[in-house]
Amino acid sequence: MIDVLENKSRSDADFVTRKPLPPERLDALSRDILTRKKELNAIILAHNYQVPEIQDVADFVGDSLGLSQQAAKTNADVIVFCGVHFMAETAKILNPNKIVILPDKDAGCSLEESCPAPKLKALQDTNPNFYTVTYINCSAEVKALSDVICTSGNAVKIVNAAPKDRDLLFVPDENLGAWVMEQTGRPMTLWRGSCYAHVEFTHAGIVRIRQEFPEAPLVAHPECVKAVRMLADEVCSTEKMVDFCKRSPAKAIIIATEAGMIHRLRKECPDKRFIPAPVANCRCNECKFMKMNTLEKLYDCMVNLEPRIELSEEIIRRARLPIERMLEISSKPLENAG
Ligand code: 13P
Ligand code: SF4
Repeated sequence: MIDVLENKSRSDADFVTRKPLPPERLDALSRDILTRKKELNAIILAHNYQVPEIQDVADFVGDSLGLSQQAAKTNADVIVFCGVHFMAETAKILNPNKIVILPDKDAGCSLEESCPAPKLKALQDTNPNFYTVTYINCSAEVKALSDVICTSGNAVKIVNAAPKDRDLLFVPDENLGAWVMEQTGRPMTLWRGSCYAHVEFTHAGIVRIRQEFPEAPLVAHPECVKAVRMLADEVCSTEKMVDFCKRSPAKAIIIATEAGMIHRLRKECPDKRFIPAPVANCRCNECKFMKMNTLEKLYDCMVNLEPRIELSEEIIRRARLPIERMLEISSKPLENAG
């Protein structure tokens, strides 16, 4: 593994303190959103990290892979994407003729920030044999430079299917990349990016919470650092966390990922207790980007059809190929994925 870039994306915690909406306002706004959705023939897609009130009005709540699969097959005229910007961009790339809107266009991602397209291009130019496997948490321009896209839900399968005679370059999450190397045994050059929220979970914090709840298994996202992943009973994408928790006989489960996940898990497994893993330096384990979306902004974007994702035809054409390659590999049974 070689270090190729400094990760400059860690910034001081800038968390949004949200005041809960009064129940009457919440009900009225949720009703108005559903009415507007019918008028627009829209679909509302929401990531597992969205605030509970957004998850509760969505047609589909899931991980990046599930959301891309939903975006690829929808018949709706308008896609309302409640997640971060790169997720809505992916939906637009798959649906160039549809309107794709999002509640807040500034909802970014520290991984996306860590990997500007010109820097990736400069690295790729150093080795013509690179085969670039790119985590979906990146800009459309970076997708356009990639051979194949992956999510945390299918990264192992995608890397196993990569051509054996190529040198693998994995961008931009070094933690996910390192985990995939461990799982597949394939060496890869890793871009030095990370999720500013997931790296807040520490070995010491997890050891402490496990001592407090010795019977509770730990589930961690692969964006966590190795010192945390190595303590986990399961390392997986947010959607696979739901499957793990449903299947687990445990009454309490420790969750090392963004806090929004707990709402989804409580809905899916109402009889279990979910314990958010503690974080080191910041006040909470919320992704400040995911939490930029609010129910009010969701309603406003559906009224104004803005902010809207706009991309050039050229970028859409080039970025679509590696996404379609990912969707195709993902849909194959394991033995045919290679
Ligand atoms: P999932 O695809 O596992 O939902 O992860 C997305 C993400 O941004 C994690 O931080
Ligand atoms: Fe990006 Fe991390 Fe937020 Fe996921 S949790 S969107 S990886 S900053």
